[in-house]
Amino acid sequence: MTLPSPPPDGDFVRIVEVGPRDGLQNEKTQVATADKVALIDRLSRTGLLTIEATSFVSPKWVPQLADAAEVFSAIQRRPGTAYPVLVPNETGYDRARAVGVEEVAVFTAASEAFNQKNINASIDASIERFRPVLARAAADGVKVRGYVSTVLGCPYQGEVPLADVVRVAKRLHALGCYEISLGDTIGVGTPRKAADMLKAVAAEVPMPALAVHFHDTYGQALANLLACLEVGVRVVDAAVSGAGGCPYAKGASGNVATEDVVYLLHGQGLRTGVDLDLLAETGRWLATRLGRETGSRVGKALAAAT
Ligand code: HMG
Ligand code: MG
Repeated sequence: MTLPSPPPDGDFVRIVEVGPRDGLQNEKTQVATADKVALIDRLSRTGLLTIEATSFVSPKWVPQLADAAEVFSAIQRRPGTAYPVLVPNETGYDRARAVGVEEVAVFTAASEAFNQKNINASIDASIERFRPVLARAAADGVKVRGYVSTVLGCPYQGEVPLADVVRVAKRLHALGCYEISLGDTIGVGTPRKAADMLKAVAAEVPMPALAVHFHDTYGQALANLLACLEVGVRVVDAAVSGAGGCPYAKGASGNVATEDVVYLLHGQGLRTGVDLDLLAETGRWLATRLGRETGSRVGKALAAAT
């Protein structure tokens, strides 16, 4: 089977599936390496074009993903699908490249306080750490995505000025990140604020280079997403089954569930190339591995309807 490729029009939304990374990094249940591999392989069969596979961060900081190298080495990479991984520094880049990673993501925040807790560095210092990663990636032909966290609020600082979000996004883009994902890490945003934030960033970084990343702590993620689609974003991060959260953002729940995002997008006449039934089945399978119900409303509804 050949995977659908994105048509060159505004009707296609590329979903960046972050469940295996953002989802599993914060789950209390220790997921077996074989199950992580099975999750990614199942996701690959749904037609998703980007699957963030794991994270080469310090295993002391995120023990849940200490098996990143084993996971990445064991997955079946589908031609046409990208499998980016998180790297915080050159050590992470070396570990990732040693197992054949071809796309990485660096991450910083719009809030100094959050960045310090998350990666033990100021925003400036984190960007200095990324500089050699981006230089080496350019030489190696490795694509680099960039994340800006806390774009709609910070668990330590509270309000985050829009100007700070714009400045950090612009710096990552100027550094060579092909895409900047704007993260509402603690899921506190509401639609108007989300749309205003995206418009402000899009005035400085081209919209095709932007993605949105909503956690669903306050149940606003789908509403925020819709508001941002109306502003023109066409890349959306989501986690199957709504799994996870950030270990350094207390109380933050998982990302918006990919199943719910796909249902919304298809309902709006937008295309994703994703098989919703297969995805929902994968979300329910993951939930059984995590010992709980799926966090996707669509996943539950589809199961009840069959
Ligand atoms: P540090 O302790 O300041 O690092 O941590 P260091 O450079 O001083 O190194 C300390 C030790 O860690 C050394 O080992 C290093 O070799 C090792 P030792 O000499 O003590 O044996 N080390 C590493 N080991 C493996 N892989 C590495 C690595 N780097 C150093 N890459 C560091 C700094 C950045 C490493 C640490 O803070 C870290 O790993 N943080 C990761 C936190 C994290 O993963 N958070 C969640 C992801 S971000 C997120 O979820 C938000 C997002 O979803 C968007 C949104 O929602 O907003 C992306
Ligand atoms: Mg996140």
